[in-house]
Amino acid sequence: MTSIDHVGVAVADLAGAIAFYESTLGLRLTHTEVNRSSGITEAMLAGDEPGACLQLLAPTTPSSVIAKFLDRSGPGVQHVAFRVDDLEAVSGSFRTSRVRMLYEHAVAGTSGSLINFAHPKDCGGVLIELVQPAPPAPSDQ
Ligand code: CO
Repeated sequence: MTSIDHVGVAVADLAGAIAFYESTLGLRLTHTEVNRSSGITEAMLAGDEPGACLQLLAPTTPSSVIAKFLDRSGPGVQHVAFRVDDLEAVSGSFRTSRVRMLYEHAVAGTSGSLINFAHPKDCGGVLIELVQPAPPAPSDQ
C-alpha cells in the first residue's frame, strides 16, 4: 500500500454532485470517464494539494452495480481505494489472508490503471479497491 488513492461515492445526479463538491468544498474536476462495460460514468475531483481524490460514480444502465447500490442504500460512500505498486502481489497476499478478491485477475480501471476489489464481507464491511496506477507517459518522465 502506498496511499489512499480515492474514495468512491455513488450518486444518482452526476452533474449535481460535481457542482456540489466544486462550489461547497472547492474541489476541482480533474477527469471524467465512461466505463461502458460496467455501466458507470465517473468523475474524479481533487483538492489543491496532492492527496486522495474523490470519485463520483453514476450509473448509465439499471443493471450497473452503482444502480443496484443506489437502489439498496441510496447515494453515499461506496468504496475506498488504496494505491499499490504491484496489484497481483497484493491480491495474492489478500488471498493468503483469506480475503476474497472480486476478479481472478486485475481489470482496467480509470486512466489506464489496473484495479481489483476485495470482498466487503472479508474487510469489515468496506468494499476495498486496489489501484495500480498506469505507468507515467514518456512525456511525464
Ligand atoms: Co474507485
